[in-house]
Amino acid sequence: MKLLLINASPHGENSKTLLLARRFIRGLTQNPAIPLERDTFRSYHLQSMNIQECNACHCCWQDEENFTCRIQGDDMNEILSDYRRADLVVWSFPLMFYHFPAAMKRMQERLFVMLSPELVRNQAGYTVRPIGAKFFSSPNRREVFISTAAFPTVVHNYEGVQAVLRMLYEDRADEIFMPQSTLFNQPIMKRKIARYLDLVESAGAVYSMTNGIDARHRARLQELLLDEDFYIQESNRQNEKTVDSF
Ligand SMILES: Cc1cc2nc3c(=O)[nH]c(=O)nc-3n(C[C@H](O)[C@H](O)[C@H](O)COP(=O)(O)O)c2cc1C
Repeated sequence: MKLLLINASPHGENSKTLLLARRFIRGLTQNPAIPLERDTFRSYHLQSMNIQECNACHCCWQDEENFTCRIQGDDMNEILSDYRRADLVVWSFPLMFYHFPAAMKRMQERLFVMLSPELVRNQAGYTVRPIGAKFFSSPNRREVFISTAAFPTVVHNYEGVQAVLRMLYEDRADEIFMPQSTLFNQPIMKRKIARYLDLVESAGAVYSMTNGIDARHRARLQELLLDEDFYIQESNRQNEKTVDSF
């Protein structure tokens, strides 16, 4: 089974989200249902790559069979080739202005080459141009979106991202969204953060290519580390001393 990691944090190795993603992947390596082919594991760090914007020329729709994009010479072809072959794609991104970081958005827009020109109503009720299954090696592929965010909740924060996931992937995408990420910097929260990371790893260890993250892990991963109002109060108090948060 081929695994692909796509990281869109500008924080490089210091990315909190990447820490979560790597723990999830570590869990996958212990998962008997996911026989990973280690030598085929690829990872891309979008912030250090050259990915140009889709120029909306629609050339790819005129030559659907050959799957060609007029933009050549940047790093997108390499990513696309692994993206098409992957059985499981793990995305790692910080939430930025209630959405994907710009580097990730730019890459996603280049997935246009895979969209069918035909408009259809998907199972989630959205009218979309679906990603063509013919582009993928595996008909049962899944995508896991892992993200951290500094605001206190997932609600009223991730709605834009969640809508896009339902439009593009319907029920083939899973999410691990961890708000309150400034708590990573608080020594007093060390044990709670460690428990959350253990939970992320164990979600990977029992991940299913049919059903994704199981209901028990989904529920526990959604539990807030701190009460929303208390987090706001503490976050604002900390901000008087530091600017290390949004
Ligand atoms: C430009 C910018 C925009 C951000 N927008 C949001 C936001 O809309 N909601 C939120 O909860 N956090 C927001 N954040 C905070 C980051 O999502 C948060 O710090 C994240 O944990 C960083 O993850 P990383 O260490 O993996 O890069 C923003 C941060 C920056 C720098």
